[in-house]
Amino acid sequence: MKRTRKVICIATSFVLALNFAAGLVFYLFEPESVRSDPAASAPFSSNNGVIYLDQSWSESDRDTWYWIPQGTVVTSYDIFLNLECADSQELFRSDANIERYGLTPCPTNPATNPDGLPIGVTKEVTTEGRWKGVDAGINCAACHNSELFYQGKRIRIDGDVGMHFQIQAFFHAVDDAMQATLHDSAKFDRLTARIGASTSDAKSELRERFGRDAERIHYYMNRILVTPHEWGPGRIDALNLIINREVTIGPKIPENWFVSLAPVKPPFCGMHRRGRGRNGAALRKIRSAVTSVKPSAFTCPWT
Ligand code: HEC
Repeated sequence: MKRTRKVICIATSFVLALNFAAGLVFYLFEPESVRSDPAASAPFSSNNGVIYLDQSWSESDRDTWYWIPQGTVVTSYDIFLNLECADSQELFRSDANIERYGLTPCPTNPATNPDGLPIGVTKEVTTEGRWKGVDAGINCAACHNSELFYQGKRIRIDGDVGMHFQIQAFFHAVDDAMQATLHDSAKFDRLTARIGASTSDAKSELRERFGRDAERIHYYMNRILVTPHEWGPGRIDALNLIINREVTIGPKIPENWFVSLAPVKPPFCGMHRRGRGRNGAALRKIRSAVTSVKPSAFTCPWT
């Protein structure tokens, strides 16, 4: 009996040791790109032709889904358009950069997408009240749209499972870019020049607004969206973020915070007309809920 127990003990230790060694070998030899580099999932350049499936979506259905604003605020719109990446002078919103985080770039269209925003990034104009201003935000399509890549072709699937979007890495990069700009006067001066804030009043208004946006995002990324592991592509813990917004950020009770560690894939939605009707209703409900209490921190419809 004693002997059997000893054998089991040795066998178990052996299996555990083997497991550990295998883990170590995998960690050491895993391709660098798989670990944390968002560029690892960057697909093809936006110049490749897009193939649309027959989903019975009209061009205008598509444009609405891609860019309709839903009352969400990430940063001021002019700041988003003109912000540089943290470690270079490349524009943050450039196709190459946003593609690193799995968003889908789209060409400029004077009627529907004059600033060449990627799918799911919106321009929100608020004409009065506390939230007066023009802001960049995101809508459903940032998380619920996708493309497949096959033999150099992009195959667009509207309303699809958001397979590529790395929301956490994306907003970390926004935070890094804002902090770098805040603390590097040459970077800030280039932003000021691009926005065209030439008078000293315009400069100080921009400085103040930039500081507010940067602080809000920095707080969100360092106090709310803190997780033991990066979520990775196509993974979002939407529900816990909503709850954190309701019980932590909204009422300003930091001790209610809890970690958002259950990321899942945003599901497939809006493939056919009936689905779109249901989503349209969800959208209107969410939009009215969000706009009536336009949140005081960086937000998306779910968070
Ligand atoms: C920030 C990313 C994100 C945005 C923006 C977003 N969703 Fe989702 N959505 C998710 C995730 C993640 C889930 C899965 C939640 C879960 O199961 O925990 C989900 C779930 C859903 C579901 C499935 C619910 C069910 O009953 O199974 C529908 C429908 C949906 N979203 C529609 C929408 C619509 C419409 C919008 C815009 C108003 C939207 N979503 C905006 C990430 C997002």
